[in-house]
Amino acid sequence: MAKHTVVTMPGDGIGNQVLPEALRLLQAVGFDAEYIHADIGWECWRKEGNALPQRTIDLLAKHKLGLFGAITSKPKKEAEAELKPELRGKGYSYFSPIVTMRQRFHLDTCIRPCISFPGNPLNFIRKKAGGGFEEPFIHVVVFRQNTEGLYAGVEWTNPPEQVRAALATHSKFKPFAAVAGPDLAVSVRIITRNAARKICRAAFEWAKKYGYESVTICEKPNVLRETSGLMEEEAKSVASEYPGIALWSTNIDAQTMWLTKNPEDYGVVVASNLFGDVISDAFAGLIGGLGFAASGNIGDEVAVFEPTHGSAPKYAELDPPIVNPIAMFLSAVMMLEHVGEVEKARRLREAIADVIKEGKVRTYDMMRIPGGARALSQGAASTLAMTGAVLDRIEGGRLLAGAVHSGSWRED
Ligand code: NAI
Ligand code: MG
Repeated sequence: MAKHTVVTMPGDGIGNQVLPEALRLLQAVGFDAEYIHADIGWECWRKEGNALPQRTIDLLAKHKLGLFGAITSKPKKEAEAELKPELRGKGYSYFSPIVTMRQRFHLDTCIRPCISFPGNPLNFIRKKAGGGFEEPFIHVVVFRQNTEGLYAGVEWTNPPEQVRAALATHSKFKPFAAVAGPDLAVSVRIITRNAARKICRAAFEWAKKYGYESVTICEKPNVLRETSGLMEEEAKSVASEYPGIALWSTNIDAQTMWLTKNPEDYGVVVASNLFGDVISDAFAGLIGGLGFAASGNIGDEVAVFEPTHGSAPKYAELDPPIVNPIAMFLSAVMMLEHVGEVEKARRLREAIADVIKEGKVRTYDMMRIPGGARALSQGAASTLAMTGAVLDRIEGGRLLAGAVHSGSWRED
């Protein structure tokens, strides 16, 4: 029996292209795992009226470890229109399967590392005052609360009477009181003390483990006095237990400005759901964008790892595939670390870093050319070629390691 069991959920579009490539690398580093396929995404919605079928929930509940590709989501009206005719008008309503998964398994901690790889042509560079350019080394890890806040899903267009009545008890609701129901949409930002505390603690624990000197809480407590206020209060309280780590506080709007001025100043950043989503994408843009942005959704029992990008439908049909699989690979690295396979994670990460640094094999995004069928003829590497390059590094590393053991190779 394999040491680990991983529920694999390629999902839609390019999820089906990048996830199998990550499995090839996991095998190459000797990860002892059995993989069980599970359905998720748009096809499930169309055929079953549920983008996250119960059978997938059961598999995750049983095996507790998941690797996920990407899904397609579409707005409400399109979602209804694409539902199988027999299911239409039967009360099915689309809800994001990822958000459902996060809530169902209390995957309340989302970790999104944004760490630059030397040699990546997409790295952020900045003009120096005295002329020329410099490339700051970015080593940010964003901790995003994953289950609450504005993504909790408590929202209405045309809110029911009781909701309106409750809102009317707040003096600030006066200007909206006369708005007609169908013209009024409300999303509730819910933050609980427990969840706020938990995400802040996770951030500080990470800072302690990896030697970061600061944790930045990125909210907006001067305006969102209750919800961001609670986040900040808990951040301060948790910080008091970590005397060696400074707590910085920034506002989300100012932070998005500062991160292109001095991104190297930030280490661990912690935020509520929407702000964490925004700020992690913003930092990811500085280290290469969607092709490099990996994430882990961590709960007390279940953990699911996924690239941040979506299903990129416009490239999903291309054969051979052209998208960058590195974000998916880095998600696999995070999964290895999570299950304690630290050495395998290190080898895989180093192999990826070597390929980026060498710069011979680059997908279209790394060449800054348009994606599409012509990208390969312009010199871009395919998804498979990128996997091949990383595999070569792993194999090369293994041969070298083997040689050390047999004594036929020595360092001089
Ligand atoms: P997207 O992330 O799928 O793609 C946006 C653009 O980024 C692509 O057109 C492509 O130019 C580039 N890109 C994305 N991944 C890339 C990769 N691995 N390599 C190179 N380039 C890459 O976002 P979009 O177009 O807004 O959404 C498409 C679908 O994906 C939608 O249905 C959306 O709801 C869904 N989505 C799903 C997510 C998830 O599964 N976690 C996250 C974001 C969007
Ligand atoms: Mg996002």
